[in-house]
Amino acid sequence: MERKISILGFAGSLRKGSYNKAILRAATELLPQGADLGIFDLEGIPPFNQDLENEPPEKVKEFKAQIRAADALLIATPECNYSIPGVLKNAIDWASRPYGDNAFEGKRVGVMGASIGMMGTARAQYHLRQCFVFLNMYPMNRPEVMVPFVQEKVNPEGNLTDQKTREKIKEFLESLVGWARR
Ligand SMILES: Cc1cc2nc3c(=O)[nH]c(=O)nc-3n(C[C@H](O)[C@H](O)[C@H](O)COP(=O)(O)O)c2cc1C
Repeated sequence: MERKISILGFAGSLRKGSYNKAILRAATELLPQGADLGIFDLEGIPPFNQDLENEPPEKVKEFKAQIRAADALLIATPECNYSIPGVLKNAIDWASRPYGDNAFEGKRVGVMGASIGMMGTARAQYHLRQCFVFLNMYPMNRPEVMVPFVQEKVNPEGNLTDQKTREKIKEFLESLVGWARR
């Protein structure tokens, strides 16, 4: 029997009603068999301060431990000013430090994102992929999940209701689990 794949997901938004948190929650319902998906909330990670990188805050220690324990990561990123949100970049900076203790080293990762605009976080996702180079991660190239006009696809209770998007995320997760097994 194949080993269970554990995925750690996090969204680059702190907003309670975040659409990116919503697509991540949907992902927990759409996982293939043989995988589980835990969600880490970035709330509480302070602004990065290199003076503290050798003795980081508890929340950062927990984040790094959960990243290391996962077979693969799933990042749901908003797009802010054509790039990734500061909240996400900040969390990445913490977890990549100090030098030589990069929690992302060699980690497989899938990216998805939702925005209220027509580009569905395309620009943010390609900026994020640039970070993966220095972090020495293994991003899954395809399929891509970019959700434009997300406000029309999530109901007031925060559930992703758009069937096409749900189907895309399902396929994406099947590929991510396969990617994690490679
Ligand atoms: C500071 C800021 C910058 C933004 N820049 C972009 C952008 O460049 N492209 C885009 O499609 N949406 C942009 N938006 C709109 C976001 O897509 C929208 O706020 C989205 O809901 C954020 O994700 P969340 O719901 O997960 O918090 C921006 C929003 C904020 C607050």
